[in-house]
Amino acid sequence: MVGSAQKGPAPTARPTLVSLRHITKRFPGVLANDQVDFEVRPGEVHALLGENGAGKTTLMNILYGLYRPDAGEIWVKGKKVEIRSPRDAITLGVGMVHQHFKLVLPHTVAENVALGLKGTPFFAPARAVAQRIRELSERYGLPVDPERRVWELSAGEQQRVEILKALIRGAEVLILDEPTSVLTPQEAQELFKVLLRMKEEGHGIIFISHKLDEVLSVADRITVMRRGKVVGTVSARETSKEELARMMVGREVVFRLTKAACKPGEEALLVQDLYARNDRGLLALKGVSFGICRGEILGIAGIAGNGQRELVEVLTGLRRAERGKVLLLGRDVTNRSPRFLSDLGCAHVPEERIRMGIVPGLSVEENLILKKHHRPPFCRWLFLEPRAIRAFAQRAVEEYAIMTPSLRTPAKLLSGGNIQRLILARELSGRPAVVVAAHPTYGLDVGATEQIRQLLLRQREEGAAVLLVSEDLEEIMELSDRIAVMFRGEIMGIVPAGEATLEELGLMMAGEKRVGAKG
Ligand SMILES: Nc1ncnc2c1ncn2[C@@H]1O[C@H](COP(=O)(O)OP(=O)(O)OP(=O)(O)O)[C@@H](O)[C@H]1O
Ligand SMILES: [Mg+2]
Repeated sequence: MVGSAQKGPAPTARPTLVSLRHITKRFPGVLANDQVDFEVRPGEVHALLGENGAGKTTLMNILYGLYRPDAGEIWVKGKKVEIRSPRDAITLGVGMVHQHFKLVLPHTVAENVALGLKGTPFFAPARAVAQRIRELSERYGLPVDPERRVWELSAGEQQRVEILKALIRGAEVLILDEPTSVLTPQEAQELFKVLLRMKEEGHGIIFISHKLDEVLSVADRITVMRRGKVVGTVSARETSKEELARMMVGREVVFRLTKAACKPGEEALLVQDLYARNDRGLLALKGVSFGICRGEILGIAGIAGNGQRELVEVLTGLRRAERGKVLLLGRDVTNRSPRFLSDLGCAHVPEERIRMGIVPGLSVEENLILKKHHRPPFCRWLFLEPRAIRAFAQRAVEEYAIMTPSLRTPAKLLSGGNIQRLILARELSGRPAVVVAAHPTYGLDVGATEQIRQLLLRQREEGAAVLLVSEDLEEIMELSDRIAVMFRGEIMGIVPAGEATLEELGLMMAGEKRVGAKG
């Protein structure tokens, strides 16, 4: 549970740290922020909620000096200010940890923190900074080793470095854009403790997240945005998950899906005794075996880093299997190319969307036909068929409700959730036999999460075999017909979803084999 973060006294009558007034920001074809008012007081966590594309990141980029507003004012500690760059923001005491980290991987923690820090000695800046890092780590409960190289760190550790970087620069207001989406549940708990310490020290925290339970437990106040506008600000104690969802989406959201009974058909995917190594050359899969039938969802649960990523990569042709076999519709496809697998009907919803799911510089419509451009109707002889492409893209944008100013907009300009919809639209069109979905709802708002879960269930009903990898146990339990738990490259057991309990799954996630487990 996220309940461990107790709330401090209600932060009333204290002066605001930051106040954004009537902020408006327009991008070509979108009004991203429409007269937005938002403020943070010292000692409070103020959460910012809203659907994908609602304008949360844009608003924070304005406060951090990355974008200039078209209209509106920014006030910091009672003074009206101009923030033209992140440097201005930092000088004013505003720090930000981005949705995607911006550390220099080959450097050490101390070097990263020292980078661009005022008042560090020219020689051996890292050594001088290391001492400050140790002090602050201690004070806020942010353990990191200043000498470690950033690439060696887990996502959770990298995030701590980003937070330390902001604190050392004197941040009084800290913006965290979807900080828990890269964390394991345990790491998230640690982060909440840090936020509590920061609150006690009088910092103000802006917390963006799509996870309503988390927001309710960690925030003091919650502001909801929809389509660039503020819908309202509520006290976390006086609201509920249902009310927040309604404010965000403008309608009731179903938190429980109805699922037809499983009617398994022929076996579409069979994995036999699979072995593979990770990027560091260590064995990440050690004899994994399972099968999935058409019309069935097999959920893979487990804490990140236990071989799930390597499994997905082997199944989609992105990583070599060292031993073992993968059969797709009865055909041996072990170590075949991604294109070969995709042509045979294996769809892939990848984990790292921006890096692997899209070509950021290409347009929405080009990204939609990315894996099919070499086949009719999009290509005849050697020529692309613009009209067929346009019609297909138009239909996909409507069916998957992709929010985009036009089909020609570069995909990188879409919000996180809309990039995910684009990938799903591309992968799920054309009736795949097997769908390999890695963390399909990660970073999505409640409405989009509900829609995407329904889309996966529809694939199942239409006869696809679905492999669902997710760290969200609730999601796994809700969607799967059977659940396999991975631990250190092995499957600890496979349980029919109807019989699975949180306790049993938790024990297997910690490495306990299921009695009588078989692949
Ligand atoms: N640099 C840009 N150029 C053009 N349009 C942009 C740019 N940045 C954001 N947008 C658009 O502004 C709108 C708001 O995007 P923003 O990233 O602020 O949403 P968000 O609330 O953070 O969504 P998510 O929850 O998906 O991260 C979206 O329609 C997005 O496509
Ligand atoms: Mg965002």
